[in-house]
Amino acid sequence: MLIRFTCNGKAVQLEAQPEARVIDVLRDELGLTGTKEGCGRGECGACTILLDGKPVNSCLLLAGKIADREITTIEGIAGKDGALHPIQEAFLDKGAVQCGFCTPGMILSTKALLDENSAPELAEIEEALSGNLCRCTGYGKIVEGVLEASERLRQGSHHRGDVS
Ligand code: FES
Ligand code: FES
Repeated sequence: MLIRFTCNGKAVQLEAQPEARVIDVLRDELGLTGTKEGCGRGECGACTILLDGKPVNSCLLLAGKIADREITTIEGIAGKDGALHPIQEAFLDKGAVQCGFCTPGMILSTKALLDENSAPELAEIEEALSGNLCRCTGYGKIVEGVLEASERLRQGSHHRGDVS
C-alpha cells in the first residue's frame, strides 16, 4: 500500500505493507538508523520516535498507522545547520551518554516532555522516562541532562523573547 506521511518535516510517500513495523521502514527504507532496536517488544524505549509529538515505540507501531501523520526521529531534531539540539548538548555536557544506544529514545522522550512542560519536577521527569531503559548510566546523569536542557531551553526562549 502507498503510505504518505511527514517525517522530520518532509513529505514522504512509499510502498510498504501496512503491517510492516515503523522501525523497519525508518531504518531500512529511509536510512534513518538513529532509531535503535533493543528489545523489539515495547519494553526498552530504544526505538522511541514522536508521532504527532507524542513518544511511541516504533517497534510496535505498524506502518498503516502513520498514514497522514507526522513523525519525528532523532535525525529530525538538530538545527538546519546541523547544530545539536539543546537537549542533545545538555546530555553530552552532563555525561548522560555512555554507549549511546538508549540516547535517541531518551532525547525524544525528553523533547516530548519539555514541549509540554518546560519546567518539570523530578517525579515528572522520572515518569516521562519510565519507558526508556539505560543499561549504562544509572539514570542520575540522564535526569541531570534533562534538568539542564529544561533550563537552557527556558533561557533560550527568554533571549529570543528579548530580541523580538
Ligand atoms: S525496541 Fe522498541 S521498545 Fe525496545
Ligand atoms: S548509555 Fe548505554 S544504554 Fe544508555
